[in-house]
Amino acid sequence: MRIVLAGLHLVALGLGLGAVLARGAALRDELDATSLRRAFRADTMWGIAAALWISTGLWRALAETEKSLGYYLSNHVFLGKMAMLGVILLLEIWAMAALIRWRRALARGVPPAEVADPAVARRIATISHVQALVVVMMVFAAVAMARGYGAR
Ligand code: HEM
Repeated sequence: MRIVLAGLHLVALGLGLGAVLARGAALRDELDATSLRRAFRADTMWGIAAALWISTGLWRALAETEKSLGYYLSNHVFLGKMAMLGVILLLEIWAMAALIRWRRALARGVPPAEVADPAVARRIATISHVQALVVVMMVFAAVAMARGYGAR
């Protein structure tokens, strides 16, 4: 189980980083049915990766498959990693709400050009690329904490 959790935690990284970059890129393109479909597909993968990250991460920490829970809770690099996850989730709230609105409007048959406001699309693209940068920073925090940095 330890190996499966560690492996899935890293698979989530490949899925998630790729997906959030693809979501941003799709929303920087001319907004039409194709680019919106690409953005929604990437958005779904980003959601799946987030669920995989958080579930395998919590399992590893709470079941102490690597180190004791106390090690992580007293490790400021791990706490920094969790704070960065908080930033990603906070940024996601607004983007997620807009994309849910767009999905519903498209499902009701509203034409893509009327659904997606280019200014909102650009803002979600910027949010996605900022989130990608924070994910990369989390990777460095994670490999440092796994090797004892930040431990008290
Ligand atoms: C609730 C969310 C999360 C929790 C509780 C969590 C917890 C953990 C734990 C317990 C480990 C094992 C560390 C060790 O070997 O001692 C780990 C490793 C790792 N985590 Fe997370 N994690 C979470 C989310 C994330 C996210 C979003 C990322 C994305 C960047 C990430 C990236 C990593 C990486 C790259 C490692 C491997 C470090 C290594 O072995 O070198 N984690 N995480």
